[in-house]
Amino acid sequence: MFGLNKKQLSEDKQGTALKLKENGNQRKLYLESYGCQMNFSDSEIVASVLEKNGFDTTPNIDDADLVLINTCSIRDKAEQKIRNRLKAFHSIKKQKPQLTIGILGCMAERLKSKFLEEEKLVDLVVGPDSYRDLPNLIKQVDDGRKAVNVILSKEETYADISPVRLGGNGITSFVSIMRGCDNMCTFCVVPFTRGRERSRNPKSIISEVKKLVENNYKEVTLLGQNVDSYLWCGGGLKKEFNNLSKEEQGKSVNFAQLLDLVASNCPKIRIRFSTSHPKDMTDDVLHTMTKHQNICKYIHLPVQSGSSRILNLMNRGYSREWYLNRINSIRKIIPNCGISMDIITGFCTESKKDHKETLSLMEKVKYNFGYMFKYSERPNTLAQRKLKDNVSDKIKSKRLTEIINLQQSHSFERNQQEIGEVHNVLIEGVSKKSKNKLFGRNTQNTVVVFPKETYKPGDYVNVLVESCTTATLIGTTI
Ligand code: 5AD
Ligand code: SF4
Repeated sequence: MFGLNKKQLSEDKQGTALKLKENGNQRKLYLESYGCQMNFSDSEIVASVLEKNGFDTTPNIDDADLVLINTCSIRDKAEQKIRNRLKAFHSIKKQKPQLTIGILGCMAERLKSKFLEEEKLVDLVVGPDSYRDLPNLIKQVDDGRKAVNVILSKEETYADISPVRLGGNGITSFVSIMRGCDNMCTFCVVPFTRGRERSRNPKSIISEVKKLVENNYKEVTLLGQNVDSYLWCGGGLKKEFNNLSKEEQGKSVNFAQLLDLVASNCPKIRIRFSTSHPKDMTDDVLHTMTKHQNICKYIHLPVQSGSSRILNLMNRGYSREWYLNRINSIRKIIPNCGISMDIITGFCTESKKDHKETLSLMEKVKYNFGYMFKYSERPNTLAQRKLKDNVSDKIKSKRLTEIINLQQSHSFERNQQEIGEVHNVLIEGVSKKSKNKLFGRNTQNTVVVFPKETYKPGDYVNVLVESCTTATLIGTTI
C-alpha cells in the first residue's frame, strides 16, 4: 500500500485484534480484521452478535476457543497477506485441534466453500451479509460439521445491531450508512463480495450517532462504498426506487438530506464521510457541508485515472472533464476543503499518454494526499473477463513511483502553505514518534502534531503551524 497520511495510520491497524470488555462469557473469541474501514466496522457488529451468544473477545490468540479473520479481496496482495495468516493459524490448530477457525468478509464471499476444500483448517466461512447467522453456524461446527453461509442479501443493513465500540480510541468512530455497491467498476471485486447496494434507515443512523455522543465520542465517519448514492425509501435495494409510487419516492432521504439530519440532530459531534463518487456527488452535498460547522471540510474523491479513455474502460461513469468540474465546484463552494484521491496505475491498455494525463490531472487538482495502487487483476471482474492486463509490472512500478513522487511534492506544498496559520485540531492520541507530543486532525483531515502540555485525547486545541513534513503539520498550541 502506498498511501500517504491517513492510510499510514489505518495501515497500522491491519490485523489488529478487537479487545472488548469482559462480560463473564464462557468462550473466548479472537477476531482479526483486514481491509477497509467498512470491514473494521463489520467486525464490531460480529463482536456484538457473539457477545450476546456466549463469547468474550481476547487479544491473545492462545486463549481463544474461536478465531475469526475478517478478510479483504481488493488486491491480490491483500489476499496473500491473509493466506499467510492462515498458515500461522494452522500451526496453532495443530496443537489445539478443538480450536474453531472461521473466515469472514470479502475473501470468504469470493472463495465460498472453496475455502473448506483448500484450507483444510477452516471450519467456518461467512460472507458479509450473514453475520447474524454466526451463532447457528458456530453451533453446527460444535456439532462436528463444517458451516458456510455466503448468501448476499437485499435487505441486510444490521441497522438494529448496536456495534461494540471498545476496540478504538474512544474519540473517533465509524457508522455504516449503506452496504454493497452497484457501480460495477470493471476493476473492482466489491460488487461481487458485498452484493447490491442498500441504504440504512436514517432514524437508526441518527440514533447510533446520538449513542456515540452520549458515550463521549467526538467524531463520526459515515461509511459507504459510494455515500453520494445513499437513498432511503423504506428499505430494500436502491435499484427498486424507480418502481415506487411518486408519493413514496417523495418521502425518500438522499445523502445531502441525511448529512443535514445527522449534523443538526447531533451538533456535538463532528462528522466526516467516505467514500464520495465523482459521478454522483451533488452541489447539494457541498452546500450542506458549508451550512454546518460540525461537518468536516474534507472530501475523499477517488479519480482512479486522469484519462477519459481509461475511465471509460473502467466504467467509472465520468470523464476527466466531469471530474475536474466537480473539483471546481468543491473549490468554489468550500474554498478551504481538503481533497484526497485514489489512483490506480497500469490499468489494462494504459499508454504513456494516458499516464501523462493522470499526472497532469494531479497537477491541476494538487490533492492534499492520496492512496495510489498498481492495478491488480481480480478474478471474475469485468476487466478480467473482457480486457487484457497488458501493462508490465515493471512499467506499473515505474508509473506508480512517478505518481507517488508527484503526490509527495503536492502534499508538501499544501502543508507548507499552512505554516503560520492556526488550525483547530481534535486530539486523538499520543504521537508515535514522541511520548511528549500529541496528534490529532484538522477539519481537512491532515494530521497535526504538537507538544502535550496538559491536553488530552478528545480535547480541541488551536495549533499554530510552524513546520511540516509531507504527511504532518507540526506546531504549538495557542
Ligand atoms: N487493483 C488496484 N487497486 C484497486 N482498487 C480497487 N480495485 C483495485 C484493483 N483491482 C483501489 C481503488 C479504490 C480503492 C479502494 O482501491 O483505487 O478506490
Ligand atoms: Fe476489501 Fe473492498 Fe471488501 Fe473493503 S469492501 S474489505 S476494501 S474488498
